[in-house]
Amino acid sequence: MSDVMSAVASLPKVELHLHLVGSASVETVLELARRHPDAGVPTERAALAAYYEFHDFPHFLAVYGVVSGLVRTSADIVALVVGLARDAARSNVRYAEVTVTPTSHLRAGIAPDELAEALTQGRQLAAAEHRVGLNWIFDIAGGEGQQSGWETVAFALRHRPAGLVALGLGGLEVGVGRAQFRRHFTLAREAGLASVVHAGETTGPASVWSAIHDLGAARIGHGIGAVSDPRLLDHLRERRITVEMCPTSNVRTRAVASWEVHPLPRFLDHGVPVTLSTDDPGMFGAQLNDEYVRAATVFGLTQAELVQIARTGVRAALCEEPVRERLLAEIDAVADGPQVSTSESLRRDAPAS
Ligand code: ADE
Ligand code: ZN
Repeated sequence: MSDVMSAVASLPKVELHLHLVGSASVETVLELARRHPDAGVPTERAALAAYYEFHDFPHFLAVYGVVSGLVRTSADIVALVVGLARDAARSNVRYAEVTVTPTSHLRAGIAPDELAEALTQGRQLAAAEHRVGLNWIFDIAGGEGQQSGWETVAFALRHRPAGLVALGLGGLEVGVGRAQFRRHFTLAREAGLASVVHAGETTGPASVWSAIHDLGAARIGHGIGAVSDPRLLDHLRERRITVEMCPTSNVRTRAVASWEVHPLPRFLDHGVPVTLSTDDPGMFGAQLNDEYVRAATVFGLTQAELVQIARTGVRAALCEEPVRERLLAEIDAVADGPQVSTSESLRRDAPAS
């Protein structure tokens, strides 16, 4: 194992941007696909890998929708949650916020109270078996419109399982103005849920501004479109609005052309709080350790910058304060240990933020 890999592996981490269905391992999806051959998801490994070659972002979402349709029982939900925790633990993730799209699962035939109960059971097993703390973000699938958004809010507020911390907005972004969900997010915030919004993933800064001003976003998912607006970068830095960056996802959905041109370093240079996440690790074939290692090797981030990113995640987490303190102490214990060189990486000029 290289120095960078062992430094990353030993660093305790949190993951704030992780979708439940997109986290399903290839083995899990193959098993579900064989159980439901009618769904059209490939049942062999090589064919599934080809199915996961995404031409563009709408194509990715279409595949995501088909795979979501394989999840049909509360036992499937529990298995996904426990599998996610098992895989996250292998990247030394101690805490994760998992985005669940309730309308997909309700439409696939899982009853609302069973869905809430399955999440609760999975969360308990994740803590007991893998020592990973989980909280939930229920997201509106933006492309499905406002009525579907209301179904999401109603489910969140009526069934509110333990660990539900935020309302999210995902799915299509082009042509799906964030402001149309203003009342949904206002109601959720009045009920004590934070706003966590995908914005600037496949569109520009206007979507990020709208997520902040119209939906009260506490964090932005992806946010890469903000890079062209220095005033917005200032705003993100000054208000400490954390951007959940998922570079592998952006490359795999072709939102950016390659890792090398990903704007993450420009956010860091600007002092914007940035975290790293996988988004959909099962579909993109990269776990959280891979994101950190690539950030070091491609962008030349130093070990101190990787630690900084891990700490930023903890600061932006929607967890209880004692959990935050414990996570920060766990990171400090490792960060204060021996430093390794990331000299194999392409060092960039900027200092750590
Ligand atoms: N659902 C799953 N992954 C997503 C992403 N990257 N953007 C929007 N919605 C998603
Ligand atoms: Zn996402």
